[in-house]
Amino acid sequence: MRTRRIGPWQVGSVGLGAMHLSSRPDRPAHADAAATMHAALDAGVTVVDTADVYCHDDTEIGHNERLVADALRTWSGDAGEVLVATKGGLARPGGGWDFCGRPEHLHAAARASARALGVEAIGLYQLHWPDPSVPYAESVGALAELVDAGVVRTVGVSNVDVAKLDTAAGVLGDRLVSVQNPFSVEDRWGEPMLRRAEELGLAFLPYTPLAGVAGDGARALATREVAAELGVSPQRAALAWLLAHSPAVVAIPGSTRPESIRDSAAAADLDLSAEQVRRIDDAPADPARPTTFAH
Ligand SMILES: NC(=O)c1ccc[n+]([C@@H]2O[C@H](COP(=O)([O-])OP(=O)(O)OC[C@H]3O[C@@H](n4cnc5c(N)ncnc54)[C@H](OP(=O)(O)O)[C@@H]3O)[C@@H](O)[C@H]2O)c1
Repeated sequence: MRTRRIGPWQVGSVGLGAMHLSSRPDRPAHADAAATMHAALDAGVTVVDTADVYCHDDTEIGHNERLVADALRTWSGDAGEVLVATKGGLARPGGGWDFCGRPEHLHAAARASARALGVEAIGLYQLHWPDPSVPYAESVGALAELVDAGVVRTVGVSNVDVAKLDTAAGVLGDRLVSVQNPFSVEDRWGEPMLRRAEELGLAFLPYTPLAGVAGDGARALATREVAAELGVSPQRAALAWLLAHSPAVVAIPGSTRPESIRDSAAAADLDLSAEQVRRIDDAPADPARPTTFAH
């Protein structure tokens, strides 16, 4: 698989978003989830995105991290090559979602994530969401302390606008290596954050990278047309477009089935022609899609 950089790591340009292996009400059984993880790793995936809150509620925080750790332990390949990117800064009271960006929470959460992952230091620790009740500089300041204390090696931010990204870059310096925001063929309102990530030399991990691909928007239709020309799935073409869109992109499509991550992983080695990229670029936005964060 072709690779890209996230800070000090050279990783496959298509990773695995592990969220739905734990978050979905009808999540797969443990053995099936492990089979999906193993299929991803066998296909060359070397970055896995998880979070402490990928679970059903607060009683099982770390569910997805433990699943990822277990799948890495039982995989026949070299798990040392795999970057696990986790997140802290949210809570799941009663199954809902709540902000939790206080420094003391982040200090405890990162240590709990390291235990769940079975590692001494977390490779990439991402602040999941800005907490509106905590100055952003204070939350990211806690992440700087976590790097300096050896609990995490590098830091990412998520769900940020350009101002918050700049605040994080100012506080974290070269400890900051990535930004994770929504971005897909249909949902491109994250473009300013993507371009700022490029300027700062950060990796950009588009989340929900397949959003809208199966819909009726003009961009989805253009993607499906290109996919048909290439004889590949619309999802693979959509991921290849994301990779062509910016050299900072490392895609993290979600999968609960081995078949879908195998298909998505092949996007890393799929080239669209310049004309095909332009056709998807130039298709108009679907007026029915959100133009900013849905939350
Ligand atoms: N930072 C944040 O706040 C945040 C928020 C949301 C998500 N994320 C991260 O982003 C990751 C991806 O987002 P997501 O999983 O919600 O959405 P997504 O990647 O856009 O879509 C996942 C869906 O696409 C299907 N799929 C994937 N590859 C496919 C293929 N090649 N062919 C056909 N279907 C395919 C999957 O099917 P199957 O399930 O059937 O395999 C699943 O239903 C998450 O897992 C999580 O790690 C982060």
